[in-house]
Amino acid sequence: MTAFPKSFLWGGAIAANQVEGAWLEEGKGVSTSDIQPHGVLGAAKERAEGESCIKDVAIDFYHRYPQDIELFAEMGFRCLRVSIAWTRIFPQGDEQEPNEAGLAYYDRLFDELARHNIRPMVTLSHFEMPLGLVKNYGGWSDRRVIGYFERYARCVFERYQHKVKLWLTFNEINMALHSPLTGIGLEGSPDEGEIYQAVHHQLVASSLAVKACHEIVPDARIGNMLLGGLMYPLTCKPEDMLKTWEKNNGWLFFGDVQCRGSYPGYMLRYFREKGIQLNITESDAEILKNTVDFISFSYYTTGCATTDEELNEKIRGNVLSMVSNPHLPSSEWGWQIDPTGLRIILNMLWDRYQKPLFIVENGLGAKDSPEADGTVNDDYRIRYLNDHLVQVGEALKDGVDVMGYTSWGPIDLVSASKAEMSKRYGFIYVDLDDQGNGTLARSRKNSFYWYREVIATDGASLKP
Ligand code: BG6
Repeated sequence: MTAFPKSFLWGGAIAANQVEGAWLEEGKGVSTSDIQPHGVLGAAKERAEGESCIKDVAIDFYHRYPQDIELFAEMGFRCLRVSIAWTRIFPQGDEQEPNEAGLAYYDRLFDELARHNIRPMVTLSHFEMPLGLVKNYGGWSDRRVIGYFERYARCVFERYQHKVKLWLTFNEINMALHSPLTGIGLEGSPDEGEIYQAVHHQLVASSLAVKACHEIVPDARIGNMLLGGLMYPLTCKPEDMLKTWEKNNGWLFFGDVQCRGSYPGYMLRYFREKGIQLNITESDAEILKNTVDFISFSYYTTGCATTDEELNEKIRGNVLSMVSNPHLPSSEWGWQIDPTGLRIILNMLWDRYQKPLFIVENGLGAKDSPEADGTVNDDYRIRYLNDHLVQVGEALKDGVDVMGYTSWGPIDLVSASKAEMSKRYGFIYVDLDDQGNGTLARSRKNSFYWYREVIATDGASLKP
């Protein structure tokens, strides 16, 4: 007996800036990711002449995609989440006409997926935007960027309307609060008011993309994408519970606007009390009513919230400001491992929105050590994924509508936070180190065969 329906979309998820390389090929422009050589947590740095970065080549998916897709097909993938590099289509961001070579590249990619019966799910913007829009407009702080994004979105909907039926707007849209350059193209140290104004513009742009997608590809479905940052109260003190509610609202706010079509009261109160005055026009409010068809999210870890000042002081400056949970183990990168939390977050989002859910990222970033014969015994990864998928099965039994699961980085790729290769998520090993040395050869890890079996049995091979 398995809880996973036959229609369940099993697969994997990758992002252009972490796999493609070819950073200036065929007319591509420079993106914000290209000036973050040490990842979204590192300092941004414009290139000196001749200076290179690991993402320039990454795993060379731009050229090697046929071979990689063949491996995904061998695992039985039904879906591959990819992103389009906006700068391949509009290199500076504000051009009138798109770059044909960039459009043609994604045509080839989607055709290759179709040949293997793998459905593409496409993120319009995954942690990158044209640097031109940052330098000439100040990123999403400028309303005109909404129009440039809409032009880009309409262009790719038109072009790929017969090839892509699943779309996502902005990857981890709530990341804007933690890394403003990555999320909303703001340089320096913007204040909260500036951040939320840029976020507002991005939310309007997301709704315009939803509207455009519905007009141009009526049989497609378009979702949002949240960084699922589930928080628990550190203790059962009511104050800790209240703090947890506030912390969870910090990310659910984005979902509330994108799924319900307006700003929630708790957020308006927050803005009032912080003296933040957003410029929200009547037309913006109308546009926001174009809500998403489904909700997608990433899920890696959970954390705790507390009113204990001493503990809060210790985590100030951490990306997600989470206090550790004493009941959970951690990965080598300090991310706490919490399979049960996946069932909780699925139920939480389902209860709140009653819209289908898609887990579009989940996985274990770990160091792998290939044996002399090239095999990689990644039992730790198998255990992590097994335990999380068991909880997806439980949520399905709870009655949650889950469309699919695309594990993060089915092939090793450059990590987002620090641009490392040693933090590997893949079922497929890529011979490349943190310095960019290696043959880029691909090989199957043990988890490759394990995931193939999970998909082939519709989850029946999972171990409770
Ligand atoms: C998510 C991003 O934040 O987490 C991905 O959408 C990223 O782009 C993933 O790669 C894992 O993070 P990291 O830093 O381990 O690559």
